[in-house]
Amino acid sequence: MIIVNSILDLRSTISAWKQSGLTVALIPTMGNLHAGHLKLVNTAKQKSDKVVVSIFVNPTQFGVNEDFASYPRTEQEDQLKLAAEHADLLFLPAITDMYSVNALTTVNVSGLSDSYCGASRPGHFSGVATIVCKLFNLVQPDIAVFGLKDFQQFTVIKTMIRDLNIPIELIGVDTQRESNGLAMSSRNNFLTDSERLLAAQLYQTLCIARAAILAGQQSYLDIEQQALQSLKNIGFVPDYFAICCCHNLTSATQQDKDIVILAAAKLGTTRLIDNIYFSL
Ligand code: PAF
Repeated sequence: MIIVNSILDLRSTISAWKQSGLTVALIPTMGNLHAGHLKLVNTAKQKSDKVVVSIFVNPTQFGVNEDFASYPRTEQEDQLKLAAEHADLLFLPAITDMYSVNALTTVNVSGLSDSYCGASRPGHFSGVATIVCKLFNLVQPDIAVFGLKDFQQFTVIKTMIRDLNIPIELIGVDTQRESNGLAMSSRNNFLTDSERLLAAQLYQTLCIARAAILAGQQSYLDIEQQALQSLKNIGFVPDYFAICCCHNLTSATQQDKDIVILAAAKLGTTRLIDNIYFSL
């Protein structure tokens, strides 16, 4: 696996690959890689000749009181994991490479970025869309692979690709879960042992809501209220629990056939997100 820090080296390696007719996949990450990320690498390997993984803890997607400083940085372990998974190139830029002090341009997918996680984390999705757009411009991959745990993020990126005519095939990969159902996440490292056991109940609550919808319960509002109450009873501080149309994340109606239930809740100091999607 080639490790590259500079934009110049990244561009020259990738352009040599492209001149040889090779296809390229990009997996943007913030590191602290777990089995969910490695599943993305595996998927990318099946669909393209070369797999590029970026690790960049992107400051612009963190709010002032969020965990940018304490976000887990495990570069050495990440490199070993990616090499074992046969990624071809690891891009590890410095903040000064990615953001010029003179930068005036940001990417904002309006509307979609303002609800759910965007409402509690103002500016977060603009930070995500901007860095992902920059990485797309630098790597110019044929495909880009993202995890579906961040379903709203995936929808924001899908919309950006559509609106800006970015010639990239976007691939979403199902959430990798612990055996108890807890969605794998770098932020799970912040959970205490007892919180980790409780955390799995976020997914159980999503499963219960899905079962109610599949059983024909008509009031989505009631299902959402019940779920919020059970999360509180378990010890979560819920942020949102929303039954949505899978395509545009508006509140689902009885006419919608493709549903995603989005949930975010804090357990102690750790903010967890998860979702479940299905068709009626
Ligand atoms: O999902 C993440 O890890 C980040 O939001 C991403 C897509 C790498 C952008 O910084």
